[in-house]
Amino acid sequence: MSSISLKSLSKQYTNEKHTLENISLDIKDKEFLVLLGPSGCGKSTLLRMIAGIEDISQGEVHIGDVCVNELEPKDRGVAMVFQNYALYPHMTVHENMAYGLKIKKMKKSERERRIQAAAEILQIHPLLKRLPSQLSGGQKQRVAIGRAIVKEPKVFLMDEPLSNLDAKLRNEMRIEIKKLHERLNSTFIYVTHDQVEAVTLGDRIAIMTEGKFRQIGTPLEIMECPVDMFVANFISSPPINYLDAELVEREGRIYADMDGMLVETNLPLEAIKHHPKVKAGIRPEHCIILVEKAINTLPMEILFTEIIGTDVLLHLTYKTQHFIVKKSFDQTYAKGQKLYVALQPKHMHLFDPHTQKNIRSPR
Ligand SMILES: Nc1ncnc2c1ncn2[C@@H]1O[C@H](COP(=O)(O)OP(=O)(O)OP(=O)(O)O)[C@@H](O)[C@H]1O
Ligand SMILES: [Mg+2]
Repeated sequence: MSSISLKSLSKQYTNEKHTLENISLDIKDKEFLVLLGPSGCGKSTLLRMIAGIEDISQGEVHIGDVCVNELEPKDRGVAMVFQNYALYPHMTVHENMAYGLKIKKMKKSERERRIQAAAEILQIHPLLKRLPSQLSGGQKQRVAIGRAIVKEPKVFLMDEPLSNLDAKLRNEMRIEIKKLHERLNSTFIYVTHDQVEAVTLGDRIAIMTEGKFRQIGTPLEIMECPVDMFVANFISSPPINYLDAELVEREGRIYADMDGMLVETNLPLEAIKHHPKVKAGIRPEHCIILVEKAINTLPMEILFTEIIGTDVLLHLTYKTQHFIVKKSFDQTYAKGQKLYVALQPKHMHLFDPHTQKNIRSPR
């Protein structure tokens, strides 16, 4: 059993400020949990505390049903892959992979079996005799993962393992890591500040800011109901668009009114009292584009277009505001062209402009 339970974990490096404050989370056996958050929010610190290479100021880490606070890293059944790979430069790939097993005094035959099996999974057989300085970034990264696999850990901890790779290799390795998780049946905790990685890899994502969890949920839950504007911004790429709106009532239903464009909400009537003014958030992929003027649309003008693979990003201006719409690339659009933008009610997120919190219950 390799469930992980974080119980009221705190970390204080200095006397003044908590780097992590009262973190609690239960991670299921074989789950792929992604820790997502901006630089400095405490992701690596949390991972290192689970690995046992950082002291815990307060609280407990349980792996399976054992409290591991007092256990050495090597006795916790975890293996960690670091952002900078942390390979031993004077050892060959084979020696790098064998080292942790030798320390555990594992028999040579078993060591060899594991190294050969990991080399097979990662296709690094031809590299086994090389030194790290003779490897490309992507190869080093595979070796770093290989060094973790041979330990046959119950728990894999990965700290931004792909951040040093170029975009193409990163996409490939992301798929490799997903396959690895399917194949190894271990629990994964994966740190990143890349929302695409988070959404594609995670069974659940824990979004962190300033040493606390802001929202924990499946990628779909977080996309469909971000708890606040910070999460909505962080999970959206290209960035989410915001429009100022007023809540108005028409025949017993509540609409968001954006300069006369009315979009229906599922809010109860009393919402108007609490939130007369709101911020309406809509992701670029959820906007509808019309070339002819129509009711309940906003007139916009194309500032420039950006082609991304088979999609096109329309960078529009609405009054003085920059607004982005993502469409599949099936039509040409010209700079300066007038378009009319409509919003899909079920994809509109409404936030309180002061607290920035989501005011709408999930549909
Ligand atoms: N050894 C240390 N001593 C003092 N402060 C530290 C130490 N290690 C990290 N910190 C501080 O703790 C906070 C969290 O750092 P951490 O490395 O966990 O962030 P992170 O979320 O992993 O960021 P990044 O995305 O940049 O890797 C930062 O403010 C950092 O400066
Ligand atoms: Mg970090």
